[in-house]
Amino acid sequence: MTIEREDQLDRLRTVGRLVARTLAAMGKALEPGMTTKELDDLGRALLEREGARSAPELTYGFPGATCISVGPDCAHGIPDGTVVKAGDLVNIDVSAELDGYFGDTGASFAVPPSSPRIERLCRDGRLAMWAGIRAVKPGRRLNEVGRSIEGFPRKNGYSLVRNLASHGVGRSLHDEPPAIPTWYEPRDRRTITEGLVFTIEPFLSLGADWVEERDDGWTLRPPFQQPTVQYEHTLVATSRGPLILTLA
Ligand code: CO
Ligand code: CO
Repeated sequence: MTIEREDQLDRLRTVGRLVARTLAAMGKALEPGMTTKELDDLGRALLEREGARSAPELTYGFPGATCISVGPDCAHGIPDGTVVKAGDLVNIDVSAELDGYFGDTGASFAVPPSSPRIERLCRDGRLAMWAGIRAVKPGRRLNEVGRSIEGFPRKNGYSLVRNLASHGVGRSLHDEPPAIPTWYEPRDRRTITEGLVFTIEPFLSLGADWVEERDDGWTLRPPFQQPTVQYEHTLVATSRGPLILTLA
């Protein structure tokens, strides 16, 4: 969506802060021995306490309030009886609707103790997201976001998953503009306009450039189980730069 009025920005800030706080609380609670369902129950309680609804459940009938993916799964994982273990790489993605507005955020967590290789992947996944965020400016091409992200893994020996994209968000979970590549797409002629609300969520991987759906019809996993992380913020393009809505 594109923000046209101040009250729209206020509502987006409110739901953005809520999903960010929920993600932070879930990340903090994450520990060996707990199930992903228990973690999801915590997320649901925090959202519902504020009168918000899970966006994937509301929009797609997803079987859970939040998406929790335990490695090698990296996206759209269904919360269930899976027990979290030390060394696991866990992605949590929280998106919700409040008063008709949506926010979307996600992060991967290495459950300690984990290997230096995985810790580096997490750190660099976050840096890749920030490289994309820093490129946001009204008047620029939307593909500058992907171009900035792509330069990062290229220099550091990583790959990017290319069958998952960022997206517009606001009045719906997947709003206009659709499918924003997190890699450089020269044929994409779209421009970043003032007030445009969208996510930036690269999937940085140790070798995978695509993911496939598992038999449950939701969970996404790289074909050779390469460790893969995702970091996601919702932001608004403003003349003063990107305004991030999903900071706790
Ligand atoms: Co998300
Ligand atoms: Co998203």
